[in-house]
Amino acid sequence: MSLASRLENARQQLSAASQLHLLNFYDSLTESEQAKLLKHIERVDWPALPAIVKDALAQRSEAKNSNTELEADDFRPIPPDACGGRSYTAPEEVARLRDIGLEAVADGRVGVILLAGGQATRLGVRYPKGLYEVGLPSGKSLFQLHAEKAVRVQAMAEQRFPGRAGGGIVWYIMTSEATQAGTVKFFEQHNYFGLRRENVVFFKQFTFPCVGLDGRVLLADRHRIQSSPDGNGGLYRAFRERGCLEHVRQRGLTCLQIFGVDNILTRVADPDFIGFCLDKRAEMGAKIVEKTSPLERVGVVTLGSDGAYRVVEYSEISASAASRADPAFPDRLLLRAGNICQHFLTADGLAKACQPEYETRMRYHAAVKRVPYCDPDTGSLIDSPPAENAIKLEKFVFDVFPFAGPKFVVWEVPRESEFSPLKNGPSASSECPNTCRRDLLALHSTWLSASDTFQAFLQQNSKTDASSTEVEVSPLLSYSGEDLANRSDWQEQVRSGGITFHSTDTSSS
Ligand code: UD1
Repeated sequence: MSLASRLENARQQLSAASQLHLLNFYDSLTESEQAKLLKHIERVDWPALPAIVKDALAQRSEAKNSNTELEADDFRPIPPDACGGRSYTAPEEVARLRDIGLEAVADGRVGVILLAGGQATRLGVRYPKGLYEVGLPSGKSLFQLHAEKAVRVQAMAEQRFPGRAGGGIVWYIMTSEATQAGTVKFFEQHNYFGLRRENVVFFKQFTFPCVGLDGRVLLADRHRIQSSPDGNGGLYRAFRERGCLEHVRQRGLTCLQIFGVDNILTRVADPDFIGFCLDKRAEMGAKIVEKTSPLERVGVVTLGSDGAYRVVEYSEISASAASRADPAFPDRLLLRAGNICQHFLTADGLAKACQPEYETRMRYHAAVKRVPYCDPDTGSLIDSPPAENAIKLEKFVFDVFPFAGPKFVVWEVPRESEFSPLKNGPSASSECPNTCRRDLLALHSTWLSASDTFQAFLQQNSKTDASSTEVEVSPLLSYSGEDLANRSDWQEQVRSGGITFHSTDTSSS
């Protein structure tokens, strides 16, 4: 189609949606810029936009004001038969569940989906968050830690169920415009951290236009619409349209674990969680930690009066609902099933969520932000708006949970062994590089303190005393503390990077 007819189409659509200002500079653009602008315009579903914006804003203000449903007396806690947890399950039962998970891995039925399209705004870096190193003795990045955990689970599965024909855990990595190039390059530079190249699939999520508080879509410059990633719930459309769903079918995967990039303690392809969900024949599941402070920025898993499970996001819960105490345990929160952004979906559940008729039922959520823009009247670029000026619209990955109906389960884990996210920069005091580093080393130290051979090795070899030596365990050596008890090869592990030391005693350096 010629540029002139594309322009005419665009003009008609924009006029009907009251967005004609996007063409204000069209006549002054070069031909290639005109083509770019038209391409941007053609990607947007203009007839749907006004209703999406209206709905997202209404949802937000309703939630902030009341959370009527959550405060209603008929709110139902998650029933015990839909819950499991490592701390209150007998070790033999956890071992049985782990075997179910490991067998699925050994048979090549398990995939993982990493959500790595976020812009890391709070962390304040301009590169993908997965590249971040929190200052561990080994200097490993989040991506490397995650990848090595997948490699280790693969090895554990092969050891437990030798001779199975599975082709390995398949890893789907969702990136965005902002993170795609840096992520792919990093994995290539590091030879996929030991994963098989054919088992790693990168796919890019889509974007959604940013809308000014006056309802007008923002320009980024004279020939581009300002947009942002469409939220981690953009997974489902991207998974379908980028061919990943078809890839899942071709590889014969039956279940997938979804996880966020920022939790340094994430158990990638967690056989316990996967085993629990498979054992319960759940279609979807969520891993949780107990939320102890009403102010903590975690969503909470709830069971609505309609019988559907869902997550109520921290940004959309009223203070009174978040603070409500459980009448049965007055010192605990009623809404305490804290979402740690690790989910389970069967391949069938995922295929359902990716169908357009389901995917379009997921609502957009609004976040009011400061967004750079190009003034549609003068063409000047405003890099740092003085106040919040725009709405970013995002879908949330967990908004598919209601589609599972009652086939939904929750797996509770101890925070100290599974949840320490990197959200903020080094100057913060929580969810920051320091706390991630601290929590990971504390966990590894509990694993190693149970190993007599390691304690003896430490005493013989450490230049300083044990209390001022930090020790990190490579995920390639141990996934969750296993295989450390009575080893005799500690010297070899130090040489090969299985464990890494760091002395905190400044006098000895
Ligand atoms: C998220 C959860 C919240 C949970 C918390 C735990 C969602 C919507 N919220 O909140 O319920 O309690 O983690 O730490 O899941 N991402 C994309 N594309 C995007 C936006 C985000 O891939 O467009 C990825 C991020 O890279 C990250 C994950 O999704 O890996 C979570 O996003 P983030 O913005 O960090 O979520 P939180 O607000 O912390």
